[in-house]
Amino acid sequence: MSTPLLEARSLVKHYGSVEALRGASFQVAAGEVVSLIGDNGAGKSTFIKCLSGAEQPDSGEILLEGKQIQLDSPTTARALGIETVYQDLAVAPDLDPAANLYLGREIRRKGLLGALGMLDKAEMRRRASEEFGRLGVTLQSVDVPIGALSGGQRQSVAVARSVVWASKVVFMDEPTAALGVVQRERVLDVIRKVRDQGIGVVLISHNMPEVLSVSDRVEVLRLGKRVARFKASEASLTDLVGAMTGALVQEDLS
Ligand SMILES: Nc1ncnc2c1ncn2[C@@H]1O[C@H](COP(=O)(O)OP(=O)(O)OP(=O)(O)O)[C@@H](O)[C@H]1O
Ligand SMILES: [Mg+2]
Repeated sequence: MSTPLLEARSLVKHYGSVEALRGASFQVAAGEVVSLIGDNGAGKSTFIKCLSGAEQPDSGEILLEGKQIQLDSPTTARALGIETVYQDLAVAPDLDPAANLYLGREIRRKGLLGALGMLDKAEMRRRASEEFGRLGVTLQSVDVPIGALSGGQRQSVAVARSVVWASKVVFMDEPTAALGVVQRERVLDVIRKVRDQGIGVVLISHNMPEVLSVSDRVEVLRLGKRVARFKASEASLTDLVGAMTGALVQEDLS
């Protein structure tokens, strides 16, 4: 394999006496969808948090395009082009979808008003409507508070926000869990589109048919460690479940 876009080597993370990651490794290439799967508590969310700056590993290395990086906060990760949709959704419920899309990257008004900190809400709404339309997110209105949307609509906004800003890698921790059939298919289409732009997409999902249909590769975490890797086109449901439960063991993994 050529130099991976993002690589984790032997990450260890403790929460008190719980060892959430026990030397977990992972790779994603540009223009590739990799699903990270594993049983409840396997360490998937912890892993994503370490790779997106939300948590710091106790030891191990993270490399972006072959260079070692320190991700001391999500802001650092974002500045490097790494965006994340967290499982415990981080949308601001009092703000409308447009404001959520531009959270932390607000567009200011031109001239003195902008210099005084006035935001160009009309421009943000116009561009947000365009982006939501492009990504197939259907909202009645982009100027109601997020808290007034359905859970699935909120999840779609969080997905849109991450893919709009990502330039290298997007992590999505169960982005389709709350979605209906139609919205789920749209998010999977968005994932394919983002991949085709050359971005590395990392998907966490418990839905194995979804994993097999959208991924190029699958990496399996078990008890805080990578235990198997598959090409999605060569893996069966039985292989994936076997690796997650420990019934199937791949010997050649460091
Ligand atoms: N903030 C925390 N404090 C203490 N323990 C934690 C914390 N976050 C995770 N853990 C523990 O670390 C382990 C891995 O949890 P993690 O959330 O990474 O699993 P997961 O693979 O994402 O599971 P799920 O599929 O249920 O979302 C679990 O044993 C969990 O209890
Ligand atoms: Mg999780």
